[in-house]
Amino acid sequence: MKTIHLFANWKMYLDFDESNILANALAAQAKKNSEQIKIAVFPSALALYPVGQVLKDVGLAVGAQNAYWVDKGGFTGEVSVNMFKEAGCEYALIGHSERRHIFNETNHEVRQKLEAALAVGLTPVICVGETAEERRADKTEEVVEIQLRSALDKLAVGADAKIFIAYEPVWAIGTGDACAPGEAERMHGKISKIVTALLPKVDCKILYGGSVRPANVADYLIGPLTDGVLIGHASAQLDSFSEIIKRAGELAKA
Ligand code: PGA
Repeated sequence: MKTIHLFANWKMYLDFDESNILANALAAQAKKNSEQIKIAVFPSALALYPVGQVLKDVGLAVGAQNAYWVDKGGFTGEVSVNMFKEAGCEYALIGHSERRHIFNETNHEVRQKLEAALAVGLTPVICVGETAEERRADKTEEVVEIQLRSALDKLAVGADAKIFIAYEPVWAIGTGDACAPGEAERMHGKISKIVTALLPKVDCKILYGGSVRPANVADYLIGPLTDGVLIGHASAQLDSFSEIIKRAGELAKA
């Protein structure tokens, strides 16, 4: 039986009150969750602390959606990896496609954020994936390999470091047009090979993300190379997220 990771990226979908309401509802039903399921929630930076306080007593983790690499200083509007760690985060999303494509985050910045996250003991969830245009040009593997190499090549990591890679094709995010599970699994195989060659000693888990819903979550989770899913829209609503947790639990038992 493998451990299944369900990571909930709430993006900017929920305001402060809505985040707390959803966190309390998830906490209230947490005792029904399978022990094989590990859940982490990525709320907005403002809601993160209270949400983390509610979730920590029931074994759910919180993470940052984005974090800056310098500890402290004159960086108006940024929140550092250190500050997120202090607020109770276990994880940090790094290089989410909305950061890369809306906010022009580069592979170089992704690398700086990754190093900083590891240095303060946050487990990074590095997001990689191709755009629709790159996919049409048959460049999926090339793009993902460049993203992985620039993030991980010669990365100084401790023997006990854990890293998550989320394969999230950009065209599948928030569109309802999910990547075929077989195709995602094939990419996970490629990703696993590249990461193992670059960082042979690191414990690397691979997630799929992009239009994961209750109806398709099991199709991804049954893949032997898939350790879990990164869920956006469907994780920001109690009914759909609860259903995903339930279906993952059934699969973990099977
Ligand atoms: P989605 O988002 O599930 O709404 O497609 C996934 C993500 O952006 O991580």
